[in-house]
Amino acid sequence: MTKIRIAIQKSGRLNEESIEILKDCGISIDNGRDQLKASSRNFPMEVFYLRNGDIPQYLRDGVVDIAIIGENVLIEKGEDISIAEKLGFSKCKVSLAVPKAVKYTSVQDFQGKRIATSYPNTVKNYLADKGVSADIHIINGSVEIAPNIGLADAICDIVSSGSTLFKNNLKEVEVMLKSEAVLAVSPQITSERRDILEKLQFRIQSVLRARQ
Ligand code: PRP
Ligand code: MG
Repeated sequence: MTKIRIAIQKSGRLNEESIEILKDCGISIDNGRDQLKASSRNFPMEVFYLRNGDIPQYLRDGVVDIAIIGENVLIEKGEDISIAEKLGFSKCKVSLAVPKAVKYTSVQDFQGKRIATSYPNTVKNYLADKGVSADIHIINGSVEIAPNIGLADAICDIVSSGSTLFKNNLKEVEVMLKSEAVLAVSPQITSERRDILEKLQFRIQSVLRARQ
């Protein structure tokens, strides 16, 4: 029997809510995080637990058919991947921040500055659009520490509650984009699996309506 292959975040802020929305759709998945792959007993679905940043490539290659992923990750790494549904959870911003003590006037202030981030494409595009060029340093985590250790003048990262910025004495100065979890679809999905996707979307839509 054909199954739809869905990627969800292995660990991190989307993991739990991704499992929960599937559960609310009546899809029970054997096995949790311990295995990298699991099957549903009552829906033609296989679940792959993957690293966030790898998911756009898996979708592109057709290794998975669909994924629950942050829109911000697609904007950074998967502009070619289409979105079937916005899922309404894991809302966040991707923002630029500077040390609290720095006087900030406009985005032009970033000209020639060193910016630490895990979102190099997003920052470059945002700044290029405003005629600003900065020196981008790619870091994969704990980005907010960079200004405090002299590695950068500013950072660009996800802001959710704002507490990481606050704890690191930073202030948000530019909101580059707003994001939430989405259901993304591989450009390579087969028509057979697209039928399963339609059934899933039908369930997701009623779950989202009930949550309102
Ligand atoms: C994420 C993100 C921010 C923080 C934002 O980091 O990179 O640092 O959460 O959330 P907040 O505004 O609610 O504080 P995470 O804790 O996932 O760790 P990482 O950066 O090391 O991946
Ligand atoms: Mg972080």
